[in-house]
Amino acid sequence: MTDTISHDIVIVGSGLAGLRAAISAASVSSKLDIAVISKVQVMRSHSVSAEGGTAAVLFEEEGDNQESHIYDTVKGSDFLADQDVAERLVREIPYEIYQLDQWGMPWSRREDGRVAQRKFGGYSFPRATFAQDKVGFYEMQTLYDNCLKYDNIRFYNEWFCTSILSEGNSFAGLTAIEIKSGNFVKFKSPAGIICTGGAGRIYSFSTYAYSSTPDGLDMAYRAGLALKDMEFVQFHPTGIMPSGILITEGARGEGGYLINNKGERFMQKYAPSKLELAPRDVVSRSMIKEIQEGKGFKHESGADCLKLDLRHLGADKINERLAGIREIGIKFSGVDIINEPIEVRPVCHYMMGGIHADVNGATEMNGLWTAGEAACNSAHGANRLGANSTAECLVWGKITGNLAAHHALDHRSALSISEQQVIEEEKRIYDGIFRGKGQVNPYEVRKQLTDTMDEKAYVFRNEQSLSEALKKVSELEDSTWKHVDDSAKEYNTNFINVMELDSMLRVAKVVLIGALNRRESRGSHARTDYPTRDDVNFLKHTLAYNTNDGPKMAWHPVIFTRYAPVERKY
Ligand code: FUM
Repeated sequence: MTDTISHDIVIVGSGLAGLRAAISAASVSSKLDIAVISKVQVMRSHSVSAEGGTAAVLFEEEGDNQESHIYDTVKGSDFLADQDVAERLVREIPYEIYQLDQWGMPWSRREDGRVAQRKFGGYSFPRATFAQDKVGFYEMQTLYDNCLKYDNIRFYNEWFCTSILSEGNSFAGLTAIEIKSGNFVKFKSPAGIICTGGAGRIYSFSTYAYSSTPDGLDMAYRAGLALKDMEFVQFHPTGIMPSGILITEGARGEGGYLINNKGERFMQKYAPSKLELAPRDVVSRSMIKEIQEGKGFKHESGADCLKLDLRHLGADKINERLAGIREIGIKFSGVDIINEPIEVRPVCHYMMGGIHADVNGATEMNGLWTAGEAACNSAHGANRLGANSTAECLVWGKITGNLAAHHALDHRSALSISEQQVIEEEKRIYDGIFRGKGQVNPYEVRKQLTDTMDEKAYVFRNEQSLSEALKKVSELEDSTWKHVDDSAKEYNTNFINVMELDSMLRVAKVVLIGALNRRESRGSHARTDYPTRDDVNFLKHTLAYNTNDGPKMAWHPVIFTRYAPVERKY
């Protein structure tokens, strides 16, 4: 019989959403016993890499207002956002900014001591609240410090969750492997929250941590929950060459601009009013067009790119506000942004899609919520505005933690778990993956998968490129099973890597099939064969359900409360 660990609430993922959810739940009642389970150490969660800001309307007396933040978010989403969700984000985030402030967050300040905000793409006012250019790191540290004040939050660091356990349509717990010992256990709990972040490591050129694989999304998908809008992958305009590490949009917010090989500030042509501070989908497409017209630079790696010029900001401003990216430039590109423009190109940065959830972060399973990038409650529709992501993590971390806490108090005795589910999961993992034999090196499979996504499902895509990608991913899926060379029980990262790959293949297929089915261009999804937005046929969300024959696709309505779709112009 598998060992059982019981908690009132299990939170999977220790990034911003997971930590905020834990604090929210813990503050409902000290009687609740809360677990935060993460495959990494807390401060290695990918949220620490967030750089530029958290969007909020803080200074209405200076002309900004929440209505404008809601509209900018909906327009940025190319009208696919659920408008009730976008509104909730905007209404609740100011509280979170000041809450973090009280918990010790070192927000950058204006001269008069008030919290500082900078410009970000697609917004009508400066709204990105920042702490130099290390926002995620400081937010994580603030939340983690706060978590440690609660005796009823227990961290399971370096535990890899493998499946969701349910009774009927109610959440009952999880299975997980303790990486250190290799022990396979079940967590029994009446309430769960999935906060495992995005899956941008299905691309090679990516700002994400190497660990940002879709294990959490896939776990939900295998449990019968829908993944929503997965075809909408965000490409951030400024990934550093050659690694893809993020150069924050804050660099453009502070006044940096993009140039082509003629020295032209080319965004004047594509977005005359917003220039480099148009939304990311617009800027990334413009950059690729410049490159296609032969106006790019050739990086020494052979890749095409453009340049971001920050020299005019001067050393003082750069050192005060953009010290993190200066250091990244020097260490990873050999360029000091004080003296030289830096080479950049669009890079996979965020997934608008995720586990289908409602405005409360509730999934299709009773007792299970989701928050942060893992969730798709549709705050961002087809294209997220920068700085709305850390905002989303905080807002829905708080909401879901609170709801899960009340649910757990009402369901103190967790549902019984049928041992059969646990046995089946054990077989899937150990017979299918751990002991399965295949000829192909999984690291080579991973490389081929992520390179295929870069080549065929990037900023621009079409029927042919997506079909080729799907064919390749299916071949990789069929060819690989399974090749875990390391037979050790303890700390077997080879085994964990193959488990990650298993989820990457399934989720990449959902991205590709969603992209094939959406025969229009909307937000980040730009089809060269269907170059315009088609509200008649595609003003709806995509759902994908797992079946033995691959994803079963469905559509889901968009919620409109205020704004009718219009053409986006910047
Ligand atoms: O550019 C950035 O700092 C990224 C921010 C975001 O994705 O929200």
